[in-house]
Amino acid sequence: MQIITDPAEMQAISENLRLQHQLIGVVMTMGALHEGHLSLVRHAQKKAGIVIMTIFVNPTQFGPAEDFERYPRPFEQDAALARAAGVDYLFAPPPERMYPEGYHTSIDPGPMAGSFEGASRPGHFMGVATVVVKLLNITRAHLAVFGEKDAQQLAVIRRVTGDLNIGTMIEGAPIAREADGLATSSRNIYLSSDDRQRATVLYRAIQYAGQETDRGRHDLKAIAHEAASLVHSVIGSTPDYLCFVDDETFVPAVEAVPGKAYRLVMAVRIGSTRLIDNWRFVCGEHRDA
Ligand code: PAJ
Repeated sequence: MQIITDPAEMQAISENLRLQHQLIGVVMTMGALHEGHLSLVRHAQKKAGIVIMTIFVNPTQFGPAEDFERYPRPFEQDAALARAAGVDYLFAPPPERMYPEGYHTSIDPGPMAGSFEGASRPGHFMGVATVVVKLLNITRAHLAVFGEKDAQQLAVIRRVTGDLNIGTMIEGAPIAREADGLATSSRNIYLSSDDRQRATVLYRAIQYAGQETDRGRHDLKAIAHEAASLVHSVIGSTPDYLCFVDDETFVPAVEAVPGKAYRLVMAVRIGSTRLIDNWRFVCGEHRDA
């Protein structure tokens, strides 16, 4: 595995790989790698001959009161995990190479970026959209794999790359979970052991919603309300949001229409840690889980 820190060098390597008719897949991360990230690498390896992983803690997607400074950066450990996973190139630029003196351009993803994660984190999706497009241009990837864990991010990236005719295929990969259902996340390490236990309520809320829609209920708003009460009973506060949305547009949904895809999205604050999770379902479709 080759480690590259210079955007121009990465771009030249990728251009060369393209000339050799290699299919390039990219997995973008902010490091602190865990099973969720590694599952994306395996997904990319099934489709692409060359897999580039990027590690870049992108300052422009963090709000002023967020955890940019204290975001974990265990680079040596990450590089070892990436190497063991069979990543071909690890692109890990320093911030000043991505945003040199005089840098100005940013991408506004429009209305979808202002709701849910975007509402509680103003500017977040503008930061994400901009860095993702920069990293796609640098890596010249044919395929980019993102986790459904960050479903709104995935929807925004699909919108932006489609709208801007980027041409990279965007794929979503399933959420990796711990044995008790908690979605794997770099932020889980911030949880105290009590809070780690409480955090399982996010998955229980998803299971509750699954059970109710399986019974044939279509009243999504009411189901979400009940799931939010379940969360409240465990963590003692109301979720930042817990709502069914149209899976493509992220517009809130009240009643399920057969054949249409919805997603239950939620953000919950436990102690000082904010966790997100989600679950997709198609109304009337049989579920294996
Ligand atoms: P990061 O939070 O490091 O996540 C990198 C990728 O891993 C994202 O596509 C995310 O959805 C995926 N991921 C995280 N946890 C996962 C899990 N439990 N199961 C499946 N996939 C999971 O998301 C970002 O970084 C950044 O916003 C980025 C896209 C790199 C832009 O800076």
